[in-house]
This record gives sequence, structure tokens and C-alpha cells, in this order.
Amino acid sequence: MGKKLLNKDIQAYINANLKTDLHSLLLKKTPFSEVSMQEIVQQIKGKQVAEKKFSFLLKDGIIFPPQLNLEQASSEKTALYKSEILRGEKFIDLTSGFGIDAYHLSQNFKEVTLVEQNTELLKIVEHNWNLLGREARFINRKLEDFLEENQDLFDVIYLDPARRDQNKNKVFLLEDLSPNILEIQEKLLSISSQVVVKLSPLIDLKYLVSVLPNIFRIDIIALKNDVKEIVIFLSKEVQNDVICHCVNLESGESVFTYEFGKEENAQSEYAEPEKFIYIPNNSILKAGVFNLISEKFGLKKLHPNSHFYTYSEKKDDFPGRVFEMKTIDSKEIKKKEQFNIIAKNYPLKPEEIKKKYGVKDGGKDYLIFTQSKKGKIILKSV
Ligand SMILES: C[S@@+](CC[C@H](N)C(=O)[O-])C[C@H]1O[C@@H](n2cnc3c(N)ncnc32)[C@H](O)[C@@H]1O
Repeated sequence: MGKKLLNKDIQAYINANLKTDLHSLLLKKTPFSEVSMQEIVQQIKGKQVAEKKFSFLLKDGIIFPPQLNLEQASSEKTALYKSEILRGEKFIDLTSGFGIDAYHLSQNFKEVTLVEQNTELLKIVEHNWNLLGREARFINRKLEDFLEENQDLFDVIYLDPARRDQNKNKVFLLEDLSPNILEIQEKLLSISSQVVVKLSPLIDLKYLVSVLPNIFRIDIIALKNDVKEIVIFLSKEVQNDVICHCVNLESGESVFTYEFGKEENAQSEYAEPEKFIYIPNNSILKAGVFNLISEKFGLKKLHPNSHFYTYSEKKDDFPGRVFEMKTIDSKEIKKKEQFNIIAKNYPLKPEEIKKKYGVKDGGKDYLIFTQSKKGKIILKSV
């Protein structure tokens, strides 16, 4: 598992090279007979990723797995959000991976079990957890085999299925994941009152509700307005209502809660731009509650396809950005001025707009290029 990496001199070499170009480092000969340069670079990459994604692992003696396992691991920040929702006696993570989710999610439980099919990876996790003083049962098996023999009941079962192919751009279905939740959901719900599953932000919410009758909660979790995870909660009983939480962590933290299905009957009023322009957070746009958000906050929409809202007053509790703006004529845009450009439901992309009007990126002012019901409009922040 690479315990040789814990040698003091090797650790010092790793720490001294945290900022070195890894491609050129890989071309060098390893200074240590017992470890390859590839193994050293793997640890450096691990520390670099940990700095951004899971800084609690930036401790002496922690071992990092290969790149793929680092990429597949959740970030500490989303894991901490999930940990606040879950508590009980017995927790099991059936797809432990590098154990970032498991480490945080199991905080409020007495007994913790981790299942992982990858032997090397689980050894690394066990080593790290020992070092961090966390106890757990580590089971190196395919979860299907574990479930076959398991007699225990759990308060929470957590899964973060792997994508079968590594093509991240593909919009996938539950059948494309390992494990396939559709195949094991009945078994899981027979041994636990709550099953929590992390899914990709690309997955379609209506599809999830249609294929999982036991779903009762969906959390759409964004970090700094970038949607990172869809987390679904299943319980034994078939559910009529599904509660959704659109969460934005770390920049203007907010949670917008709604009942799934309410969007269908919600309606937006339309208007030309008033004093304030509202742009919902991306977790809300992912949820597709374009009319509900308008109803709940008493805002008017500019256009059916624009997803910009307007109102004469500022609403401070709005889960998104609010700008005071005025409509301008394109002739008022001066060359070489600096703007943050937002273009949606508009024929030109921001890059094309910058070229056409000769404006530069950045600064504190905003230009929005979009359409209202009357046609194309340009809005400038005041
Ligand atoms: C996306 S990763 C989990 C990452 C983890 N949540 C974290 O925060 O580090 C999925 C893991 O599930 C494991 N896995 C996938 N299918 C499995 C199966 N049928 N049995 C056991 N483990 C499985 C993979 O080996 C992989 O390590």
C-alpha cells in the first residue's frame, strides 16, 4: 500500500516538491531505491488536490491514492453539508472510495462500516483513518456479495456510485452507474430506514422521481454557485411528496425549499425590466423551478426562456444575485470600457459581444444581453 512512502526523507522530498512541475519531475530518476517517481508524484498530486478539496487530510503520514480515486472523491465542503442532515446509531457507506464522504457523514453515528471493492484503496483508507483516530469496520468486497450475506440493519446506507465509463460529459441513467440503484433498492430498503445516494449534477430530476417510488427528498448542492451533487433520499414507504432543497454553499449561502411537482401548476407574470434584475442561483436553475421562484418571491419574468426576473424593489432573501440596472441603447456602450458580460437567450455569446462593442472583461459593472417579451434588450448595472 506504500507504507515506504512514510519514510522521513521521502516525505521531506514530497513536501519540497509540492509546487514543482509534475511532468518534468516524472522524467527524473527517483532519488530513493524503494519508491518510484510515479509513486512520489501520486503523493504530490494527492496533497495538491487535498489543499482544494479535503484539507483535513493535509497531515503527516496521510497516504493518497491514484488520480482517479482523488477525482471521484467528494469535497469536504459538500460532505460536511450532508453530515449535518444525517444521524443515528449505525452508518454504512457501500461505495467508500477514498472515504471523504464516509469520514464526515459518519460523524453523528456510533458504528461505522465501509465497503469497497478496490483492495489497495481500502487499505489506504484504513491506514488514514487509523492515523486520524477514527474507528470503522473495513470490508473489502463487492457490495452485492456483502449484501447477500449481511444480517445487520442500518440507520443510514450511503452510496456514491461510480460511473461505469469515465466519460464525464455523458448524461447518464441510473443503469450506467456501479452499483445500479434500481437493481438493489429493494434490498437496501429492507435493511435500512434511509438510503442516501449521491448522483451527478447531470441527472434529470423528473427521471429520478419517475423510477424511484421511495424517493422523499432531493438536495441539489452547489458550491460557490457551481452545482456539484444531486443527493437523493429514499425511505421504506412509497412517497407522495418529494421535498427538494436547492443549496448554495460558500457564496451567499442559501437554501430554497419546494415540493417537487409544484412547478407544474406555478405561473409567472411577465414584465419589461424594472429597477432590480434577479438571477437565480444555479441550483435553482438545475431544479427548473422557473415559475415557482417567480411566484414565491413575487417577481416578474422577462421572457419564458430567459430566466431573468425583475421587480421594483430589492428582496434580500432571494437565493441568487440581484442587480440594480437600467435598459440602455447599444450606442451607450463605450469602447474599451470594462464589464462583466452575461448573455442568455441572446443571439451573440459574451465573446462575440466583447468583439462587436470593443469592451473589455472584468471590473465591477455588469451588462446583461437578453430578451424581454418585446424583443432584444441590453441592461447595464447602475
Ligand atoms: C465515486 S467513488 C466514491 C467516492 C467517495 N464517496 C468519497 O468521497 O471518497 C465510488 C467507489 O465505489 C466503488 N464501487 C463501485 N461499485 C462497487 C461495487 N459493486 N462494490 C463495491 N464497491 C464498488 C468503486 O470502486 C469506487 O471506489
